[in-house]
Amino acid sequence: MRASGAGPNPLVRFASQIWGSIFRHGLPSTDKVAARTALTNFFLHIHPVRVKKSAIRVSYTLCLGGLSFFLFILLTISGLFLMFYYIPSVDQAYQNIKDLQFVETFGLVTRNLHRWAAHGMVITVWLHMARVFYQGSYKPPREFNWAIGSILLVVTLLLSFSGYLLPWDQLAVWAITVGTNMAKYAPIGGPYTRYVMLGGRTVGQGALIRFYVLHVVALPLIGFILMVIHFWRVRKDGFTGGL
Ligand code: HEM
Repeated sequence: MRASGAGPNPLVRFASQIWGSIFRHGLPSTDKVAARTALTNFFLHIHPVRVKKSAIRVSYTLCLGGLSFFLFILLTISGLFLMFYYIPSVDQAYQNIKDLQFVETFGLVTRNLHRWAAHGMVITVWLHMARVFYQGSYKPPREFNWAIGSILLVVTLLLSFSGYLLPWDQLAVWAITVGTNMAKYAPIGGPYTRYVMLGGRTVGQGALIRFYVLHVVALPLIGFILMVIHFWRVRKDGFTGGL
Protein backbone atom coordinates (compact mmCIF):
# COMPACT_ATOMS: atom_id res chain seq x y z
CA MET A 1 0.00 0.00 0.00
CA ARG A 2 1.30 3.46 -0.93
CA ALA A 3 1.80 5.97 1.88
CA SER A 4 -0.75 8.78 1.73
CA GLY A 5 0.62 11.91 0.00
CA ALA A 6 2.97 9.90 -2.32
CA GLY A 7 2.86 10.86 -6.06
CA PRO A 8 1.10 8.80 -8.73
CA ASN A 9 2.34 5.37 -9.79
CA PRO A 10 5.76 5.78 -11.56
CA LEU A 11 4.43 3.93 -14.60
CA VAL A 12 1.47 6.33 -14.89
CA ARG A 13 3.84 9.28 -14.39
CA PHE A 14 6.14 7.97 -17.13
CA ALA A 15 3.19 7.39 -19.51
CA SER A 16 1.80 10.89 -18.89
CA GLN A 17 5.31 12.35 -19.40
CA ILE A 18 5.54 10.60 -22.80
CA TRP A 19 1.97 11.71 -23.65
CA GLY A 20 2.84 15.29 -22.66
CA SER A 21 6.01 15.26 -24.78
CA ILE A 22 3.95 14.35 -27.87
CA PHE A 23 0.71 16.27 -27.23
CA ARG A 24 2.12 19.36 -25.56
CA HIS A 25 -1.13 21.17 -24.92
CA GLY A 26 -4.59 20.27 -23.76
CA LEU A 27 -7.66 21.06 -25.86
CA PRO A 28 -7.19 24.58 -27.28
CA SER A 29 -9.68 27.05 -25.82
CA THR A 30 -8.47 30.25 -27.55
CA ASP A 31 -7.02 31.07 -31.01
CA LYS A 32 -3.62 31.71 -29.42
CA VAL A 33 -3.50 28.29 -27.70
CA ALA A 34 -4.80 26.66 -30.89
CA ALA A 35 -1.93 28.19 -32.94
CA ARG A 36 0.63 27.17 -30.29
CA THR A 37 -0.82 23.65 -30.20
CA ALA A 38 -0.55 23.32 -33.97
CA LEU A 39 3.06 24.55 -33.89
CA THR A 40 4.33 22.35 -31.07
CA ASN A 41 2.40 19.11 -31.61
CA PHE A 42 4.20 16.72 -33.98
CA PHE A 43 1.03 15.37 -35.63
CA LEU A 44 -0.74 18.71 -35.97
CA HIS A 45 2.53 20.27 -37.14
CA ILE A 46 2.17 18.28 -40.37
CA HIS A 47 -0.90 20.36 -41.19
CA PRO A 48 -0.85 24.09 -41.97
CA VAL A 49 -1.47 26.26 -38.90
CA ARG A 50 -4.50 27.92 -40.52
CA VAL A 51 -6.62 26.79 -43.45
CA LYS A 52 -10.01 27.77 -44.77
CA LYS A 53 -12.70 25.42 -43.58
CA SER A 54 -13.76 24.83 -47.19
CA ALA A 55 -10.26 23.65 -48.15
CA ILE A 56 -10.17 20.71 -45.74
CA ARG A 57 -13.52 19.28 -46.78
CA VAL A 58 -13.09 15.67 -47.92
CA SER A 59 -15.22 16.57 -50.94
CA TYR A 60 -12.56 19.16 -51.90
CA THR A 61 -9.43 16.97 -52.03
CA LEU A 62 -11.38 13.66 -52.20
CA CYS A 63 -8.51 12.53 -49.96
CA LEU A 64 -6.85 11.16 -53.09
CA GLY A 65 -3.34 12.09 -51.91
CA GLY A 66 -4.12 10.55 -48.51
CA LEU A 67 -5.45 7.40 -50.20
CA SER A 68 -2.28 7.14 -52.32
CA PHE A 69 -0.19 7.35 -49.15
CA PHE A 70 -2.39 4.78 -47.37
CA LEU A 71 -1.93 2.36 -50.29
CA PHE A 72 1.84 2.99 -50.25
CA ILE A 73 1.93 1.95 -46.56
CA LEU A 74 -0.25 -1.11 -47.30
CA LEU A 75 2.11 -2.05 -50.15
CA THR A 76 5.16 -1.68 -47.92
CA ILE A 77 3.70 -3.96 -45.24
CA SER A 78 2.31 -6.63 -47.59
CA GLY A 79 5.55 -6.42 -49.64
CA LEU A 80 7.60 -7.10 -46.50
CA PHE A 81 5.60 -10.29 -45.93
CA LEU A 82 6.11 -11.34 -49.55
CA MET A 83 9.86 -10.82 -49.15
CA PHE A 84 9.97 -13.58 -46.53
CA TYR A 85 8.96 -16.00 -49.25
CA TYR A 86 9.97 -14.76 -52.68
CA ILE A 87 13.41 -15.70 -54.10
CA PRO A 88 14.61 -13.50 -57.00
CA SER A 89 16.02 -16.37 -59.05
CA VAL A 90 15.01 -17.17 -62.65
CA ASP A 91 14.82 -20.87 -61.69
CA GLN A 92 12.65 -20.38 -58.61
CA ALA A 93 10.64 -17.15 -58.90
CA TYR A 94 7.77 -18.54 -61.02
CA GLN A 95 7.29 -21.65 -58.84
CA ASN A 96 7.60 -19.46 -55.75
CA ILE A 97 4.67 -17.32 -56.83
CA LYS A 98 2.56 -20.37 -57.75
CA ASP A 99 3.26 -21.91 -54.31
CA LEU A 100 2.39 -18.63 -52.67
CA GLN A 101 -0.88 -18.58 -54.54
CA PHE A 102 -1.97 -22.21 -54.14
CA VAL A 103 -0.05 -23.77 -51.22
CA GLU A 104 1.10 -21.29 -48.60
CA THR A 105 -1.23 -20.27 -45.76
CA PHE A 106 -2.39 -16.68 -46.32
CA GLY A 107 -0.18 -16.58 -49.45
CA LEU A 108 -3.06 -15.79 -51.79
CA VAL A 109 -4.47 -13.01 -49.63
CA THR A 110 -1.01 -11.43 -49.15
CA ARG A 111 -0.28 -11.54 -52.86
CA ASN A 112 -3.70 -10.20 -53.82
CA LEU A 113 -3.51 -7.44 -51.22
CA HIS A 114 -0.18 -6.35 -52.72
CA ARG A 115 -1.40 -6.64 -56.29
CA TRP A 116 -4.71 -4.82 -55.86
CA ALA A 117 -3.16 -2.11 -53.69
CA ALA A 118 -0.59 -1.56 -56.47
CA HIS A 119 -3.31 -1.17 -59.13
CA GLY A 120 -5.23 1.06 -56.70
CA MET A 121 -2.24 3.31 -56.06
CA VAL A 122 -1.62 3.87 -59.78
CA ILE A 123 -5.28 4.90 -60.13
CA THR A 124 -5.41 7.16 -57.03
CA VAL A 125 -2.13 8.92 -57.92
CA TRP A 126 -3.44 9.72 -61.44
CA LEU A 127 -6.77 10.92 -60.00
CA HIS A 128 -4.96 12.99 -57.35
CA MET A 129 -2.91 14.63 -60.10
CA ALA A 130 -6.11 15.33 -62.08
CA ARG A 131 -7.75 16.83 -58.97
CA VAL A 132 -4.73 19.08 -58.38
CA PHE A 133 -4.77 20.12 -62.06
CA TYR A 134 -8.48 20.80 -62.43
CA GLN A 135 -8.60 22.83 -59.21
CA GLY A 136 -5.53 24.81 -60.26
CA SER A 137 -3.71 23.70 -57.10
CA TYR A 138 -0.41 23.58 -59.02
CA LYS A 139 -0.29 27.39 -59.32
CA PRO A 140 2.13 29.52 -57.26
CA PRO A 141 3.30 28.94 -54.59
CA ARG A 142 2.80 25.19 -55.23
CA GLU A 143 4.88 24.74 -58.42
CA PHE A 144 7.66 23.01 -56.48
CA ASN A 145 5.20 20.51 -55.01
CA TRP A 146 3.78 19.88 -58.48
CA ALA A 147 7.32 19.03 -59.64
CA ILE A 148 7.89 16.71 -56.65
CA GLY A 149 4.48 15.15 -57.40
CA SER A 150 5.44 14.54 -61.04
CA ILE A 151 8.53 12.61 -59.91
CA LEU A 152 6.31 10.68 -57.46
CA LEU A 153 4.08 9.71 -60.38
CA VAL A 154 7.10 8.37 -62.30
CA VAL A 155 8.31 6.49 -59.18
CA THR A 156 4.81 4.97 -58.75
CA LEU A 157 4.75 3.79 -62.37
CA LEU A 158 8.29 2.39 -62.13
CA LEU A 159 7.32 0.52 -58.94
CA SER A 160 4.36 -0.94 -60.79
CA PHE A 161 6.47 -1.95 -63.81
CA SER A 162 9.33 -3.46 -61.76
CA GLY A 163 6.85 -5.44 -59.61
CA TYR A 164 5.13 -6.79 -62.73
CA LEU A 165 8.40 -8.48 -63.72
CA LEU A 166 9.04 -10.35 -60.49
CA PRO A 167 6.76 -13.42 -61.07
CA TRP A 168 9.05 -14.14 -64.07
CA ASP A 169 6.19 -15.57 -66.15
CA GLN A 170 5.70 -15.02 -69.88
CA LEU A 171 4.09 -11.61 -69.28
CA ALA A 172 7.08 -10.51 -67.23
CA VAL A 173 9.76 -11.77 -69.60
CA TRP A 174 8.13 -10.17 -72.64
CA ALA A 175 7.38 -6.92 -70.79
CA ILE A 176 11.04 -6.54 -69.86
CA THR A 177 12.09 -7.51 -73.38
CA VAL A 178 9.83 -4.85 -74.93
CA GLY A 179 10.67 -2.25 -72.25
CA THR A 180 14.43 -2.59 -72.58
CA ASN A 181 14.22 -2.72 -76.42
CA MET A 182 12.40 0.62 -76.28
CA ALA A 183 15.21 2.01 -74.10
CA LYS A 184 17.71 0.79 -76.75
CA TYR A 185 16.23 3.27 -79.26
CA ALA A 186 16.74 6.30 -76.98
CA PRO A 187 18.62 8.95 -79.06
CA ILE A 188 21.53 9.21 -76.61
CA GLY A 189 23.18 6.15 -75.02
CA GLY A 190 20.29 3.84 -75.96
CA PRO A 191 22.14 0.48 -76.27
CA TYR A 192 24.20 1.31 -73.18
CA THR A 193 21.01 2.03 -71.16
CA ARG A 194 19.60 -1.35 -72.22
CA TYR A 195 22.83 -3.05 -71.19
CA VAL A 196 22.73 -1.40 -67.75
CA MET A 197 19.03 -2.28 -67.28
CA LEU A 198 19.53 -5.92 -68.19
CA GLY A 199 22.92 -6.37 -66.55
CA GLY A 200 24.02 -8.04 -69.81
CA ARG A 201 22.93 -8.49 -73.41
CA THR A 202 20.06 -10.89 -72.85
CA VAL A 203 17.03 -11.02 -70.53
CA GLY A 204 18.04 -13.26 -67.63
CA GLN A 205 19.17 -13.43 -64.01
CA GLY A 206 21.02 -10.09 -64.20
CA ALA A 207 17.80 -8.33 -65.20
CA LEU A 208 15.66 -10.03 -62.53
CA ILE A 209 18.00 -9.13 -59.66
CA ARG A 210 18.29 -5.53 -60.90
CA PHE A 211 14.53 -5.03 -61.05
CA TYR A 212 14.11 -6.80 -57.70
CA VAL A 213 16.52 -4.43 -55.96
CA LEU A 214 14.89 -1.45 -57.66
CA HIS A 215 11.45 -2.70 -56.57
CA VAL A 216 12.14 -3.52 -52.93
CA VAL A 217 14.84 -0.99 -51.98
CA ALA A 218 15.67 1.87 -54.33
CA LEU A 219 12.23 2.99 -55.57
CA PRO A 220 10.35 2.69 -52.22
CA LEU A 221 13.15 4.65 -50.53
CA ILE A 222 13.17 7.39 -53.17
CA GLY A 223 9.34 7.47 -53.04
CA PHE A 224 9.31 7.75 -49.26
CA ILE A 225 11.85 10.58 -49.17
CA LEU A 226 9.90 12.48 -51.87
CA MET A 227 6.62 11.95 -49.97
CA VAL A 228 8.16 13.46 -46.83
CA ILE A 229 9.18 16.53 -48.88
CA HIS A 230 5.73 16.57 -50.55
CA PHE A 231 3.88 16.58 -47.20
CA TRP A 232 6.24 19.18 -45.78
CA ARG A 233 5.46 21.46 -48.75
CA VAL A 234 1.70 20.84 -48.39
CA ARG A 235 2.07 22.01 -44.81
CA LYS A 236 4.17 25.06 -45.68
CA ASP A 237 2.11 26.17 -48.69
CA GLY A 238 -1.22 25.58 -46.96
CA PHE A 239 -3.97 23.78 -48.82
CA THR A 240 -5.43 25.48 -51.87
CA GLY A 241 -7.95 28.00 -50.66
CA GLY A 242 -5.96 28.24 -47.42
CA LEU A 243 -4.67 31.54 -46.04
C1 HEM B 1 2.82 8.81 -54.38
C2 HEM B 1 2.13 9.80 -54.87
C3 HEM B 1 1.51 10.95 -54.10
C4 HEM B 1 1.13 11.06 -52.76
C5 HEM B 1 1.22 9.98 -51.67
C6 HEM B 1 0.61 12.41 -52.57
C7 HEM B 1 0.08 12.90 -51.38
C8 HEM B 1 -0.52 14.14 -51.22
C9 HEM B 1 -1.32 14.58 -50.09
C10 HEM B 1 -1.65 13.72 -48.87
C11 HEM B 1 -1.72 15.87 -50.32
C12 HEM B 1 -2.64 16.72 -49.42
C13 HEM B 1 -4.00 16.99 -50.15
C14 HEM B 1 -4.70 15.81 -50.76
O1 HEM B 1 -4.85 14.77 -50.09
O2 HEM B 1 -5.11 15.91 -51.93
C15 HEM B 1 -1.11 16.28 -51.58
C16 HEM B 1 -1.21 17.55 -52.16
C17 HEM B 1 -0.64 17.92 -53.36
N1 HEM B 1 -0.11 17.07 -54.32
FE1 HEM B 1 0.27 15.10 -54.04
N2 HEM B 1 0.73 13.09 -53.76
C18 HEM B 1 1.24 12.24 -54.72
C19 HEM B 1 1.44 12.52 -56.07
C20 HEM B 1 1.25 13.77 -56.65
C21 HEM B 1 1.32 14.05 -58.05
C22 HEM B 1 1.56 12.99 -59.14
C23 HEM B 1 1.15 15.40 -58.21
C24 HEM B 1 1.18 16.23 -59.46
C25 HEM B 1 1.99 16.02 -60.48
C26 HEM B 1 0.94 15.97 -56.89
C27 HEM B 1 0.79 17.32 -56.60
C28 HEM B 1 0.28 17.83 -55.42
C29 HEM B 1 0.03 19.25 -55.14
C30 HEM B 1 0.35 20.44 -56.06
C31 HEM B 1 -0.54 19.30 -53.84
C32 HEM B 1 -1.02 20.56 -53.08
C33 HEM B 1 -2.50 20.66 -53.40
C34 HEM B 1 -3.26 21.64 -52.53
O3 HEM B 1 -2.65 22.39 -51.78
O4 HEM B 1 -4.51 21.61 -52.65
N3 HEM B 1 0.98 14.95 -55.96
N4 HEM B 1 -0.42 15.21 -52.13
